[in-house]
Amino acid sequence: MRMIAGQKHRVEIVLNGQAVSAEAEPRMLLSDFLRQGLGAFGTHVGCEHGVCGACTVRIDGALARACLTLAVQAHGCRIDTVEGLSPRDGRLSVLQAAFQRHHALQCGFCMAGILMSMDHLLATDPAPDEPRVREVLSGHLCRCTGYHPIIAAVLDAAAHIRAEADDA
Ligand code: FES
Ligand code: FES
Repeated sequence: MRMIAGQKHRVEIVLNGQAVSAEAEPRMLLSDFLRQGLGAFGTHVGCEHGVCGACTVRIDGALARACLTLAVQAHGCRIDTVEGLSPRDGRLSVLQAAFQRHHALQCGFCMAGILMSMDHLLATDPAPDEPRVREVLSGHLCRCTGYHPIIAAVLDAAAHIRAEADDA
C-alpha cells in the first residue's frame, strides 16, 4: 500500500472473525482505528506509548500493543480483541468467569489488555505456574484491583480448562 500523508486509505481486517473495513490516515493508530473507525470500544487506551498494556490485542495470533501499531500496518491481518473472548451465546469465557469469581477487576480499565494477554498465555501454556503468570502480568498496569486476585483468577481458570480437557 503506497502511503501519502494526509490521504486516507481503506484498511481491511478480520476483526474477531468478521471481515470489516474503514478509512484511516497513514498516522492513525490501530487502537484509534478499532475504537473510532470501527466502533469496537472494547480495546482501551491508557498511556498510548506501550507501557500500560490496556490496548493489547492479537495480530495474526501474536500479542501486540495496538497503540504502537499503525492501522495501515494491520491491513489484511486478523485482529482479535477482548470482544471476541466470550462465546457468541453471551456467556463468559472460562477466564472471564474466573475473574468474576475472584473479584479480579474494579474499574475494568486495564482488563481488555490483561484478559487478552492471559487468554493468550492459557492458549499457549495450559499449566502456567504463579511466576509465569506474574511475568506476563508485569506487562500490564492495574491501578485499582491489586494483582493478587488477578493471579488467583488466572491460575483458577487454567485449572478449570485442564479439568475440562481431562473430561472430554
Ligand atoms: S495504551 Fe497501549 S500500552 Fe498503554
Ligand atoms: S481494574 Fe481498574 S485499572 Fe485495573
